Amino acid sequence: MGVFKKPFLFSFITGLLLMTISYFFQPLMPFQSIAHRGASAYAPENTIASFEKAVELGFDYIELDVRFSKDGHLVVIHDANVKRTTDGKGFVGDLTVKEIKKLDAGSWFSSAYEGERIPLLNEVIERFSGQIGLLIEMKAPENQPRMTEVLAEMLNSCTQESKLVKNIKVQSFHVNELKKFHQLAPDIPAGILLSKQLDLFHLASYRSFASFLSVHHLLLSKSFVSQAELFGYDIYSWTVKKQYQFADMQRLGVHGIISDEEKRLPDSRLYALITPFLKGQDFLKTLLT
Ligand code: G3P
Ligand code: CA
Repeated sequence: MGVFKKPFLFSFITGLLLMTISYFFQPLMPFQSIAHRGASAYAPENTIASFEKAVELGFDYIELDVRFSKDGHLVVIHDANVKRTTDGKGFVGDLTVKEIKKLDAGSWFSSAYEGERIPLLNEVIERFSGQIGLLIEMKAPENQPRMTEVLAEMLNSCTQESKLVKNIKVQSFHVNELKKFHQLAPDIPAGILLSKQLDLFHLASYRSFASFLSVHHLLLSKSFVSQAELFGYDIYSWTVKKQYQFADMQRLGVHGIISDEEKRLPDSRLYALITPFLKGQDFLKTLLT
């Protein structure tokens, strides 16, 4: 065989093979499962129905998005405009809670959820806190004056009234507002959402107010996770959809996986071996659909 006569090519191919094999033999690490906008593959996102489904499926946390209404209440909705997920129209910030509560937030998903309402954050805390963790995302706080302060006040007062507020965390893409949130509510873990790489300087300086990083799964690598762990961050990855991506994230050793549905693989080396087939299966499905 020609390849044996070319030592460089031979070593290169052998190295590649060994790397691939050792990758698939890496253990699948345990992680906290976080339901993205609730169990949003099964029920309309950011509603009580999707949060109940997350509890039923055994998720560890619910991830939910908050925005400010016209009259200064924290409402649970992802988009700035209500159009995509309700039967209404207009910006959340131009509507009062009374107007928001009239909207149907379930029918767009399925007629089975007709009449589902947009929840207020305090309703979600009262209903779910203590039952399941809450990962609250402040949506665009930089454009909604006093939103960060109101959220910090709400969570501080829950703690003082000794309501069951354990396992509440707050995250945002907006670093300055997150820093402000940490100053106002230092007991609530705060995390930065990342959709681009973070250099070592920022990794070090953000640690004074952030204890976790929620990172787009395509940005993650073993070296980034190790570096972040050296600074003491927990790492969550979003938004993981396919079975093999769960396995990839487990091999990287992330602490939490944010996903629309639960696809936990057993923590064993034997199961690790099936992931190349899952990758192939997903690839075929993509080709055929
Ligand atoms: O928690 C991560 C993820 O929720 C960020 O993206 O657009 O779904 O809020 P998005
Ligand atoms: Ca979110």
